[in-house]
Amino acid sequence: MIMDKKMKAVVLTEPTDADKVTLTEMEIPEVKPGWVLVKVRAFGLNHSEQILRLNEIRADYIQKPIIPGIECVGEIVDPSDSGFAVGQKVAALMGGMGRSFHGSYAEYALLPAHHVFETDTALSWEQMAAVPETWFTAWGSLFECLQLKAEDTLLVRGATCALGYAAIQIAKALRCKVIATTHRKNKLTLLHDADEAILDTGELAGTIHGVTKALELVGPKTLSDTLRTVEKGGIVCNTGVLGGVYTLNNFDPIKFIPNGVYLTGFFSNYPTQDIMQDIFRFIEDHEITPKIGAAYPFGRISEALYDMDHHKVNGKIVVTV
Ligand SMILES: NC(=O)c1ccc[n+]([C@@H]2O[C@H](COP(=O)([O-])OP(=O)(O)OC[C@H]3O[C@@H](n4cnc5c(N)ncnc54)[C@H](OP(=O)(O)O)[C@@H]3O)[C@@H](O)[C@H]2O)c1
Repeated sequence: MIMDKKMKAVVLTEPTDADKVTLTEMEIPEVKPGWVLVKVRAFGLNHSEQILRLNEIRADYIQKPIIPGIECVGEIVDPSDSGFAVGQKVAALMGGMGRSFHGSYAEYALLPAHHVFETDTALSWEQMAAVPETWFTAWGSLFECLQLKAEDTLLVRGATCALGYAAIQIAKALRCKVIATTHRKNKLTLLHDADEAILDTGELAGTIHGVTKALELVGPKTLSDTLRTVEKGGIVCNTGVLGGVYTLNNFDPIKFIPNGVYLTGFFSNYPTQDIMQDIFRFIEDHEITPKIGAAYPFGRISEALYDMDHHKVNGKIVVTV
């Protein structure tokens, strides 16, 4: 039973710099069939929310006003017709969250039941919040796309990001050899969980050997070089776009993809209950503590967003509500 009918949320209508982000008081949304009301306990911040807040919000397909936030963890307060129990711990992500309907930068979120997943985990809310989007993306990239096995040598290109750290944690738990790169010399020490940390000059091909799988997080900017870095029979998964180049123009597959090398990509829009359960079980079985770069209370959301915009945090930023 919710006594207070009001909640606080970040509500955007136009491009907004982090220091202009404030909390607005508004009605707690009413549930409807197929949707559940979640009390948000914590949420992670994402690159794609930054893109929305600074620019994409202008696009016609974005609902306005919009509460941003593509993921959260929390508890069911009203299950509607979903079959969830009141108080069930859940994680929610993607599927239009924070773009075509209100997202997680709020005390409560009304979410489509099919994008809300039961997660019986012993992790704290803060640790749990570091998982949904980042780990689902790392997991899908490594297993569905790269078919990662213990005998693989994995290259993580652009590894000093939340996704990179999670990918290293997963691959090391699996006992793979991991080579991780950063474009900043002073960040090499942040990659101590990998077997080798390498400074990325933009040209890795010919300088490292034995790579069977590569997770490309820098994106199209370095993809050609990554494809030429893996061994014959190797797979490259392009998941990130950290390099700021989003597409490949004049893509000529015959010349771009070396003979016998495989190229794939991952898009995190389709999480499932089974996969989310597997992820939390893997974390528990391997006694992993999901990495957090920094945590902020909801009242300091503006500072959290500012710190993300100004690259002040290494790793996942979590906001507790
Ligand atoms: N395909 C999907 O469905 C999917 C899902 C989630 C995320 N992503 C993408 O995956 C990437 C990582 O996401 P994230 O949330 O983990 O990012 P994040 O934690 O917000 O990391 C951003 C940091 O990456 C660092 N970085 C590392 N290598 C870089 C390079 N070559 N150029 C520029 N910056 C670099 C930057 O810090 P320094 O420059 O100081 O190193 C920056 O602060 C993003 O491109 C994101 O859009 C894709």
